[in-house]
Amino acid sequence: MQDYQAPADLLKDRIVMVTGAGSGIGRAAAKAYAAHGATVILVGRTVSRLEEVYDEIEAAGHPKPAIVPMNFEGAAVKDYEELAMTLEDNFGRLDGLLHNAGILGARSPVELYDPETWNKVMHVNATAPFLLSRAMIPLLRKSDDASMIFTSSGVGRQARAYWGAYAVSKFAVEGLAQLLADELDDERHNIRVNSLNPGATRTGMRVLAYPAEDPKKNPDPEQLMPVYLYLMGRDSKGVHGQQIDAQPKK
Ligand SMILES: NC(=O)c1ccc[n+]([C@@H]2O[C@H](COP(=O)([O-])OP(=O)(O)OC[C@H]3O[C@@H](n4cnc5c(N)ncnc54)[C@H](OP(=O)(O)O)[C@@H]3O)[C@@H](O)[C@H]2O)c1
Repeated sequence: MQDYQAPADLLKDRIVMVTGAGSGIGRAAAKAYAAHGATVILVGRTVSRLEEVYDEIEAAGHPKPAIVPMNFEGAAVKDYEELAMTLEDNFGRLDGLLHNAGILGARSPVELYDPETWNKVMHVNATAPFLLSRAMIPLLRKSDDASMIFTSSGVGRQARAYWGAYAVSKFAVEGLAQLLADELDDERHNIRVNSLNPGATRTGMRVLAYPAEDPKKNPDPEQLMPVYLYLMGRDSKGVHGQQIDAQPKK
């Protein structure tokens, strides 16, 4: 999977949503999906970053993306439902959803963890993917071959000291992915659901988590894209309910 070579037309005519598309891994995924033919719905918090990605995709001559500014911290249920209605009107379906947006929160022992930060991290990392999935499943059902990818983390599979709400939120993400995989484990639905751990990757979040680390020791987000493309495209049909790693385990 890590050596997967995506055909140039892998995502031709597909409608794919990427959250946290303005930076880091989400930005690389949005561009890779567009480069393989998808119309990408760029969801994120900082509009200027989404606009940069939009401009880069357009300048490269790939299908025109769409920008959806959305701050998962404050978005209400009706915002998700309105987004689903807009997509229904414009595209009629959704073929892929990469849940990628996330925040780190504090690195702190549980006994000192700030409860407000805890709630914020849980909301952005776990509740928002639930609300978005809830709103998008009817549209994903209208695709003949849809893929949902939940972004996890090593500490969402094996907790480690001081990772606080981030670790717990990623366990919740794994749970949501498993739950949906089981609920949608039916050929009629045609939606595959998997969780993906990118592994240590050179992004802003990694620098926040490991300020003393040499960033050059980790791969760029672009280097992970074979796995992101594989899971989003038709070649992963039948891969369902799996916990996947984007990098070989060290
Ligand atoms: N990098 C790693 O080593 C690593 C390892 C394991 C897992 N991950 C996971 O990979 C995913 C991507 O992380 P990254 O490393 O690429 O980090 P990043 O560069 O910090 O990107 C995070 C993205 O999430 C968006 N986001 C944050 N809060 C949001 C909110 N309230 N509403 C909407 N969007 C919001 C950010 O938007 P803005 O542009 O507005 O900031 C940004 O685009 C995350 O789920 C992370 O947990 C990363």
